Amino acid sequence: MTNASTIAIVGAGQAGAIAAAELRQQGYAGRVVLIGDEAHRPYERPPLSKDVLLQPDTTRCAIYADDFYAQHAIELRLGMPAVALDADAQTITLQDGTSIAFDHLLLATGARARRLPMLDALGGLGVDVHTLRTLDDARRLRTALQPGKRVLLVGAGVIGLELASSAIDLGAQVSVIEQAPLAMARCAPPVLSRHLCETHRARGVALHLGVPLASAAREHDEIVLTLEDGTRVAGNAVIYGIGVEPETALASMAGLEVENGIVIDAQCRTSHPRIYAAGDAAGQRSTANPGVTRQETWENAKHQAVTAARAMLGIAPEALDAPWFWTDQCGLNVQFAGDMRAAEWIGRGSLAAPPCVLFGLDADGALVGAITVNLGREMRNAKALIAKRARVAREVLADPAHSLRDLARAAS
Ligand code: FAD
Ligand code: APR
Repeated sequence: MTNASTIAIVGAGQAGAIAAAELRQQGYAGRVVLIGDEAHRPYERPPLSKDVLLQPDTTRCAIYADDFYAQHAIELRLGMPAVALDADAQTITLQDGTSIAFDHLLLATGARARRLPMLDALGGLGVDVHTLRTLDDARRLRTALQPGKRVLLVGAGVIGLELASSAIDLGAQVSVIEQAPLAMARCAPPVLSRHLCETHRARGVALHLGVPLASAAREHDEIVLTLEDGTRVAGNAVIYGIGVEPETALASMAGLEVENGIVIDAQCRTSHPRIYAAGDAAGQRSTANPGVTRQETWENAKHQAVTAARAMLGIAPEALDAPWFWTDQCGLNVQFAGDMRAAEWIGRGSLAAPPCVLFGLDADGALVGAITVNLGREMRNAKALIAKRARVAREVLADPAHSLRDLARAAS
């Protein structure tokens, strides 16, 4: 591409910022415009449910220093939603009416919190109702999470459990309502899910699992959530995290293929050859799963951003290890790699007394997944074993006397 070319990036979040930086890193000398609807410079979201709430005065979550963008000639258009995309004309239109002609476009529009109208309706009755996706959401939430507050948390996914942990640390009382029988079922195996629930209960969280919410009402100064079995749970603030929906409006408007996210190939190219997508908004077909799969992780956003930027410049993608993500809650750093639907889990050490590792084996005994609890330094070795689909005897996996590094080296 020539120096006169333009690459536009919609979404100044994690994938957008990293893609812009990668373009410069790879020597692209044309125009880079990074468009974001939030007012903030790109920031990391993982601290929002954790340190931004617990240490608001000292936590910094900016992805790059403030002057990085000017230094790298990345034009920032913040607080400015992109409202229209014409794929044939290769133009993107911003809310202020500006139209930007692009040679290549990256859609890094992320995802938004799924709404639950029954709970949103409480907002109209003067009730404190929160979801958590943005820095502004986290700052509002921090103000609400005061000692003695009686928090009703709906959804025991990643956000729900991390917020339950942070709210307890801040001195609130917490009730969690989850419709599924297991917490964090989207991304954790039952053995870990059960352990996390026990840990939260031991810290005082009242967990209601496996019963859907039937109604929500304000009764005098209280909010009462009633479950389908008649259980009434009362409190004075509502927070919910019931999953996310990919932000695909521009892609749909432009006629790109959309199915559970903006559909991309291995180079992050959409159904239009000049338009790419990355991060929470994007989904890929694979032979392992039917339909289109999206990953909602920090690592995926980073990897796809780099892949898309390189593909625009004709550079091959980097190989990726097994998918990886983490959660921090109740003083536990839990890291996950590979397939969480493994048929069998073997423990090295005990979940009841971390640090420990869980190894996931498939039906043929190959190592396909791993979870470390307060033992992140072993993740690299665990990933190497997963990459080789290692076959290691169960008693060896379970025995800390056998170093994982040696096992990974020895695996063929
Ligand atoms: P985002 O970071 O959401 O960025 C997308 C940006 O695009 C947003 O700023 C959005 O407002 C903007 N945008 C959307 N549409 C438009 C438009 N039309 N015009 C302009 N701008 C637009 N992952 C982990 O692996 N570990 C964790 O511990 C972890 N914790 C998390 C905690 C929280 C509270 C949240 C919310 C997420 C967490 N994640 C975690 C997930 C991780 O942060 C996301 O996977 C990652 O942020 C996705 O990056 P992205 O760039 O695709 O989307
Ligand atoms: N009532 C109660 N629980 C519900 C309801 C409902 N009406 N609807 C969904 N849930 C539950 C689901 O069963 C699931 O356990 O909400 C939980 C949502 O969990 P996640 O899919 O993990 O979503 P969430 O916790 O909102 O996290 C959203 O944040 O940390 C990131 O990457 C993570 O993308 C994810 C995002």
